Amino acid sequence: MPDIAYVNGTFLDLNDAVIPIDERGHQFGDGIYEVVRVYGGKPFLLHWHIERLLRSAAAIRLDGAYSHEKWVELVEQAVQQSGYAEATVYFQVTRGIAPRAHLFPNVEPSVTLIVRAHQAKKPTAPQKLLLLPDERWANVYIKTLNLLPNVLAKQSAYDAGACEALLVRDGQMLEASSANVWFVKNGELFTAPANRYILPGITRRYVFELAEKLGLTLHEQAVPLEKLHEVDEIFLTSTTAEVLAIDEVIEWPGNIPAKTGLSADIPANVTVTAENCETVWKTGEHVIVKQLQNEFYRSINLICAE
Ligand SMILES: Cc1ncc(COP(=O)(O)O)c(C=O)c1O
Repeated sequence: MPDIAYVNGTFLDLNDAVIPIDERGHQFGDGIYEVVRVYGGKPFLLHWHIERLLRSAAAIRLDGAYSHEKWVELVEQAVQQSGYAEATVYFQVTRGIAPRAHLFPNVEPSVTLIVRAHQAKKPTAPQKLLLLPDERWANVYIKTLNLLPNVLAKQSAYDAGACEALLVRDGQMLEASSANVWFVKNGELFTAPANRYILPGITRRYVFELAEKLGLTLHEQAVPLEKLHEVDEIFLTSTTAEVLAIDEVIEWPGNIPAKTGLSADIPANVTVTAENCETVWKTGEHVIVKQLQNEFYRSINLICAE
């Protein structure tokens, strides 16, 4: 069975799916999306994802997207049709297809969805984060298609030998380019508050429940960059990375804006490499992260066995 797509009402082979050139997602990034993980043939935390999608739709004034019930039905039907037990489902809604003009067109939104088999990637140690200034816009709580700053940050991280960027805004370490970030200090968890400056991750929300089960104290509080040296453990959470332990934080010494905030100067076009970065934090044991990972996989196994 090939990976499958759904385009405005029709299921088809992913290789046959196309979008028209006047699609607003394509031209403006004028849309929103979700990524859901499927374990044992069951879409994990689907209702939370759909709730967030509908909140994102309201935040960009995108009317006419499917109802909650219709999304549940569509995602479940797509997963069933794919026959995949381990998969990711990507779905997006854009403001539709209309001749290119900035103002909202008076057309139906476009709905597309993709089901792909999940490719398990074993992380190769050590997992590093590259400190970078957060250059995204001021409404990153909306899961929009506009991901250019995230793409650039993640590529810089990879160029530097890191798996992710650790984004700093106003001196606070807020999140990664495609994951939420967590810090552990003296056995207690810290993650940035769910305000406009982070995406409120579904996995982050799930970890709140795991932490409660494990009796861990949790603070929705950002950690300032200047306190990085006091942190015992760091981990990331996301739908695809799950709960990922971090071993090192690195920085490019020329990258002053991560420390001082953005300046009005046009930044130089510099490719950060592993050679010109230095380690500024290293983990000891992943004690708390391992507890959370165990609890995470235990709960997934329970769900799959239901
Ligand atoms: C910027 C950002 N933060 C956090 C997350 C984690 O969100 P979730 O746990 O819902 O996948 C993502 C996921 O793509 C993301 O892009």
